[in-house]
Amino acid sequence: MKANQLREKYFAFFEKKGHRRVPAALLVPENDPTTLFVSSGMQPMMPYLLGEKHPLGSRIVNSQPCIRTQDIKEVGDGRHTTFFEMLGNWSLGDYFKKEQLAWFFEFLTGEIGLDPARLYVTVFAGNDQVQKDQEAIEIWQELFKTKKAPREGKEGFDPEVKVYLYGSKKNWWSRSGAPDQMPTGEPGGPDSEMFFDFGADLGIHERSIFAQNECHLNCDCGRFLEIGNSVFMEYQKNQSGGFDKLPARNIDFGGGFERILASSWDQPDIFRTELFYPIIGAIQKATGVGYRQNPVFMQVIADHLKAAVFLVDQGVEPSNKQQGYVLRRLLRRAVVKMQQLKKEKISETDFEPLCEAVLRIYQGIYFDDIAKRKKKIAPVISQEVDRFNQNLIRGLRIVAETVPEEINGQFAFKLFSTYGFPFEVTRELALVKGIDLAREAFEKEFKGHQAKSRTAARGMFKGGLADSSERIVKLHTATHLLHQALRKVLGNHVRQVGSNITAERLRFDFTHPEKLTPKQVKEIQDIVNQTIDRGLEVKKEIMSLAEAEKCGALAFFKERYAREVTVYSIGGFSREVCAGPHVQNTRKVGHVEITKEESVGTGRRRLYMILKELPNGS
Ligand code: SER
Repeated sequence: MKANQLREKYFAFFEKKGHRRVPAALLVPENDPTTLFVSSGMQPMMPYLLGEKHPLGSRIVNSQPCIRTQDIKEVGDGRHTTFFEMLGNWSLGDYFKKEQLAWFFEFLTGEIGLDPARLYVTVFAGNDQVQKDQEAIEIWQELFKTKKAPREGKEGFDPEVKVYLYGSKKNWWSRSGAPDQMPTGEPGGPDSEMFFDFGADLGIHERSIFAQNECHLNCDCGRFLEIGNSVFMEYQKNQSGGFDKLPARNIDFGGGFERILASSWDQPDIFRTELFYPIIGAIQKATGVGYRQNPVFMQVIADHLKAAVFLVDQGVEPSNKQQGYVLRRLLRRAVVKMQQLKKEKISETDFEPLCEAVLRIYQGIYFDDIAKRKKKIAPVISQEVDRFNQNLIRGLRIVAETVPEEINGQFAFKLFSTYGFPFEVTRELALVKGIDLAREAFEKEFKGHQAKSRTAARGMFKGGLADSSERIVKLHTATHLLHQALRKVLGNHVRQVGSNITAERLRFDFTHPEKLTPKQVKEIQDIVNQTIDRGLEVKKEIMSLAEAEKCGALAFFKERYAREVTVYSIGGFSREVCAGPHVQNTRKVGHVEITKEESVGTGRRRLYMILKELPNGS
């Protein structure tokens, strides 16, 4: 089955079960400060999982491009990537375990024909707060009993062999992991994972460092591949560290698109599927090296380039900050690997065919006019490659010539500050010489030298949850007020091109050709504060996108909206298509202050705004 057919089959299957399809969200989350990137399909669904009503109803299906840089070290094992597509379906207070598990099982075995003999599942074993998921165990037992093993012609499977129990480290899901890591307010719940068995006799198992250990579903030897995860999201962490029930019991299902495709091809290496192999082909051509000779480096390059193409397409540029810094690290790591594969010096044009391969893989799905996209993306990547390339050979030579005793934190910092080598790259190069460099040693040097860029470097490959407090909701409403105030003062050409809110501040990017004067900034701030003081009601309505536009709601990300949308109106002052949440009355926001205004590229400005503590503490 082709990748595009598989994706469509998945949509059609769940549409038949009453789900409505929603477009994918952008990789950089809007109005969500919790992570740098959308790293699972549920992230853009957060307001709905917490109880907001979804405009399309209670059954939703989609495919969401995700970036998970936490997995960067695993890239090279044939199945981990930093960029992947997550097939999702959600029940927002509608159906629950019985339907979800049965449907996904039916999809795998019936629609795409996976042999049930090769499917295994895990279920939550229970902890001191939430009991063992007996219901899920029994559902799976029944499901497996009803299936025939086509090859063996056997009627039914022994459930003992198919269903396994794991604790909260493996079978509990929240964005921040196990129950004890969840911040207050975070939703989560026990989950059930599905695995495809590639067999013990593929040779992967023997090669693996885990070969000496007893193999089990969650081990990393490569035999079993996790392909789906149904989260039974019914809990929310409360202030005393325990759990409250969410307003409704939800299903949050996520399936690894690339992995399901690989399983349907009986191919344990996802990089040999059509979702990667054209990129691998381009790398082979550029380097003259065959995939079998160095699959690890080629997988890293293919994955990182794919992630980079999506990020640049969505407006992220290499920089020393936040998402831009992650992009820079991905690209530079790919460049180092490319140089290590290729005998002669690489050039920035080596990466163009790789970009094109990525665009072609997703042509018509995520990229329309390939030539136009390439024109936009390739120069950004080439420029970064070129910038780094100038120091690359010298940096690599220095590593090669330095004796192991001198490879330490100071050395890593020098390579970073002089040659632009990200710490991870130096650590990998040092490992070849038998040195395991500690990040702390590098950061100690860093701290001493450059307090400013230290924030850029720390923990960038982690998700890093902030809290989702009342302050964020207030700042979200302030964002709408700011947007409208900007249009009043500067004109209706102003449109939002991005926003990011943390508990400390809101950051708002918009189109405008020139720097704002202090007078304009003050006027905008005054309008926002005066509107807050008017005590306007914040009203939420669900309507079709066409109706929303007709009634003048700001809707700038149309291609990402479903046909029915939620519109938030703030009195008669502002009206926007938005998923919420918001305060109910503007007075709740308190006063705000604009703290900074800057340029973020041609024709784009950025404003920072904070909540101002009022003397009476309100
Ligand atoms: N949120 C779960 C995951 O990311 C299922 O969608 O695995």
